[in-house]
Amino acid sequence: MPIKLKKVEKVYKSGDVETRALRGVSLDLSDGDFVVVLGPSGSGKSTLLNVMGGLDHVTKGEISIDDFTIHEMSQKALTLFRRNHVGFIFQQYNLLQTLTVKENVEIGARLVENPRDIDELLKRVGLKDHANKYPFQLSGGEQQRVAIARALVKNPKMLFCDEPTGALDEKTAKEILALLQDLNKSLKTTVILITHNASIAQIADVVVKMNSGEIAEVSRTKETLSAKDIHWG
Ligand SMILES: Nc1ncnc2c1ncn2[C@@H]1O[C@H](COP(=O)(O)OP(=O)(O)O)[C@@H](O)[C@H]1O
Ligand SMILES: [Mg+2]
Repeated sequence: MPIKLKKVEKVYKSGDVETRALRGVSLDLSDGDFVVVLGPSGSGKSTLLNVMGGLDHVTKGEISIDDFTIHEMSQKALTLFRRNHVGFIFQQYNLLQTLTVKENVEIGARLVENPRDIDELLKRVGLKDHANKYPFQLSGGEQQRVAIARALVKNPKMLFCDEPTGALDEKTAKEILALLQDLNKSLKTTVILITHNASIAQIADVVVKMNSGEIAEVSRTKETLSAKDIHWG
């Protein structure tokens, strides 16, 4: 789904303190893009993802995703929008510890009318042999694969990932990024991925650089690399 932001502002108020997390952000993203949002801590990356994904309201400005005018939608409409169109992946895997891998994915499947086939999906994300294990029996990378499967089972048009490899070592992180790249290509899912790791920008179609609540630069990558070919130290 194409995503369009027009002069989006987000101000957080706590007591007397106001934080201007987004200061007039305008952005145009195409359907099917693999987008990496890059920027230092506190630059507004998570805020940007949260307002685009309908997790939080903008203070000012407009967001439209396909025909949905996000900034005008009620809480209830946003919940439905998220449920039907957006998958979220976070640095923390947020799995239910008392449920197996398959049961965790079934939770996502129950939210929508036409979920993906769970066994096929588990195979696709490399968890075929782990379906009946519990989260504590899995490595961090495997747990993130479960979170990805739980998001994807709803068949979302967009996958919003906030520092999805932030808790993983380099090798495992690259495997997860390769999986997200593959899903973007094969399922045509738009991926928007936040990171403060500049090396990861090399796998993007589009790189959005944030600084102090503003977009410093948007660039289309000339030569997109495969996740397995990038390095960081
Ligand atoms: N819920 C909140 N309440 C108040 N301030 C917040 C909240 N979330 C984020 N902020 C502030 O907004 C700014 C941008 O934060 P954030 O979007 O989380 O940045 P990033 O993800 O790039 O690290 C920071 O100054 C942060 O402290
Ligand atoms: Mg953040």
